[in-house]
Amino acid sequence: MNAKVIDHPLIQHKLSLIRNIHTGTKEFRELLEEISMLMAFEITRDLPLEDVEIETPVAKCTCKMLSGKKLGIVPILRAGLGMTNGVVRLIPAVKVGHIGLYRDPQTLMPVEYYCKLPSDVAERDFILIDPMLATGNSLAASIDILKRKGAKNIKCMCLVASPEGIQLINNAHPDVDIFVAAIDEKLNDHGYIVPGLGDAGDRIFGTK
Ligand code: URA
Repeated sequence: MNAKVIDHPLIQHKLSLIRNIHTGTKEFRELLEEISMLMAFEITRDLPLEDVEIETPVAKCTCKMLSGKKLGIVPILRAGLGMTNGVVRLIPAVKVGHIGLYRDPQTLMPVEYYCKLPSDVAERDFILIDPMLATGNSLAASIDILKRKGAKNIKCMCLVASPEGIQLINNAHPDVDIFVAAIDEKLNDHGYIVPGLGDAGDRIFGTK
């Protein structure tokens, strides 16, 4: 099982707060946005830099700036939306695609109902965003969609993952790196992560 756990103390503290059943919608949203920003900081650690000549008030110097690599983020609807703003605040020019999937009641497998991506998919590196990596079926299907459209470099940003979900993605897409804030114990019979945090979409949007 291969996933990078971003175990920064601030992330772990905020994650414990949002796991708490007594944390309300407003606080949940704010904390999730903060965690997303902190996770994006780590996930983008390998962004390439280039030398630029600048002039400070004191002297000329050669400094580092981002080389302009094209990035895209793709939240999986709807819970992925809760982690989008944090990343956008950190990378304001990032392009944002969206993928929507529903679960077929017969096969229980994800079916695409919405997909809108930047036009130059093949030229971008992508961060696919879904807070809960549970069975892994939706994330695997979303990676399939991105790859079919030409994406070559995909990372996944998830808040909480089950071991089963990570294994499924590792098997189906060994080239895709998974970043998580925590790997929990297991999935229960209803497909919820244990202990998890409940239904992330409901908690973000207050729809419970
Ligand atoms: N989706 C959620 O929102 N929570 C889980 O625990 C599993 C899937």
